[in-house]
Amino acid sequence: MTTTHPALRRGTLNGLELKNRLLKAGTFENLTPGGVPGDRLAAFHNRLAEGRLAMTTLGYCAVENAGRLNANMMVMDEDTCRPLQGIIQGLHERGCKVSGQMGHCGAFSKNHSLQQRPKGPSGGLNILGFSEGMWFANAMSLDDIDKLVAQYGRAAALMKDTGFDAVEIHFGHGYGLCQFLSPLTNHRKDEYGGSLENRLRLPLRVLAAVRQAVGEDFPILGKISLSEGRRGGLHYDDAVEISKALDQAGIDGLVTSGGTSTFNPMLMFRGDSILPALLRHEKNRWMRLIYRLMGKRMFPSMPYRELYFLEQAKRVREAVSCNMIHIGGASTAESFEQALEAGFDFIQLGRSLLADPDLPTQLAGNSAFKSRCTHCNACVGTIESERGIHCPVFNP
Ligand SMILES: Cc1cc2nc3c(=O)[nH]c(=O)nc-3n(C[C@H](O)[C@H](O)[C@H](O)COP(=O)(O)O)c2cc1C
Ligand code: SF4
Repeated sequence: MTTTHPALRRGTLNGLELKNRLLKAGTFENLTPGGVPGDRLAAFHNRLAEGRLAMTTLGYCAVENAGRLNANMMVMDEDTCRPLQGIIQGLHERGCKVSGQMGHCGAFSKNHSLQQRPKGPSGGLNILGFSEGMWFANAMSLDDIDKLVAQYGRAAALMKDTGFDAVEIHFGHGYGLCQFLSPLTNHRKDEYGGSLENRLRLPLRVLAAVRQAVGEDFPILGKISLSEGRRGGLHYDDAVEISKALDQAGIDGLVTSGGTSTFNPMLMFRGDSILPALLRHEKNRWMRLIYRLMGKRMFPSMPYRELYFLEQAKRVREAVSCNMIHIGGASTAESFEQALEAGFDFIQLGRSLLADPDLPTQLAGNSAFKSRCTHCNACVGTIESERGIHCPVFNP
């Protein structure tokens, strides 16, 4: 007799029926040139849907133009959402639900179409923008903060109308809301800076605005960094407190990642250094120079191991009652089972779905399934490639 792998059993997320527990992690696809979604974005996600994935995530949907890291990212406005409707409908027809990752880059931007300094909790250098001559960031005023909260609410309402089944607010990886949470980047002296209670004020206002926009019955996930991995930054104990606050404020699920895209990305995707892949695809000569000078320190190889966030994420599991979504190094049938047994409700997959887009189908036929992904991280550099993200090893 064959038994169904527990990751292939149905689940629900605030009333949303999901045919199994396997979800796509948000991975900015770079398949929307100029921020315009079309056939290439559809084809990428349709392939996952045809592999029997329960829910995919459209990576990095910026809540406003100023929230884009670069001009190829989608902004959640009427013009972008019109073509998205058809893409989402196509995914629904293939039995796959769709979440959208709500992002805002805050003080770090290389989107020169912005024509103004990016804004975050505090002013200072915009390291990511050096290559575009965008050297500095400004501090947000109280009025800017109110407007940002309103943008999250507006974008969430539009995403729901467009057909998304869920949204995922990005509270981690060093992006805008994480910059408010982190004492490394938030030096404000007002009610949005200082104590953790104050640093949580904007993220909680954003969650409340999104909830008000989408209603009680619509799933809202939040992606956090368990640790920024930097002295003076957010650490595991903070993550437990942040998670408790988000849980009490009514979030439906937490995705427990780690690291920051700017300073400590290797925590996020353990494995081989991403430096060779970045150098392979980066065309900007200033960025290439920065990588050559600082790359070895910024992107050290971190030995891969399965479920590398599990132990710390379990601390969050014990502290909250919302759904928990495991992320980070789940690539075998055994790991999926272990994460679910540890009390996680769903599993988000990044690289293993790039290597094996039909992973759920394979799992159904093989109880000893192991993804082909070697965690070489060559795919990470393809964020900058014209073809968009892909696994150069198994899907060249
Ligand atoms: C090519 C690529 C692009 C990514 N882009 C994003 C992104 O836009 N937003 C995000 O939150 N995480 C992003 N990530 C991180 C993944 O969501 C995930 O946290 C990470 O890959 C670890 O999960 P894994 O071991 O299943 O790959 C990206 C990862 C990869 C490999
Ligand atoms: S390039 Fe392919 S094998 Fe290497 S980490 Fe990415 S998905 Fe895995």
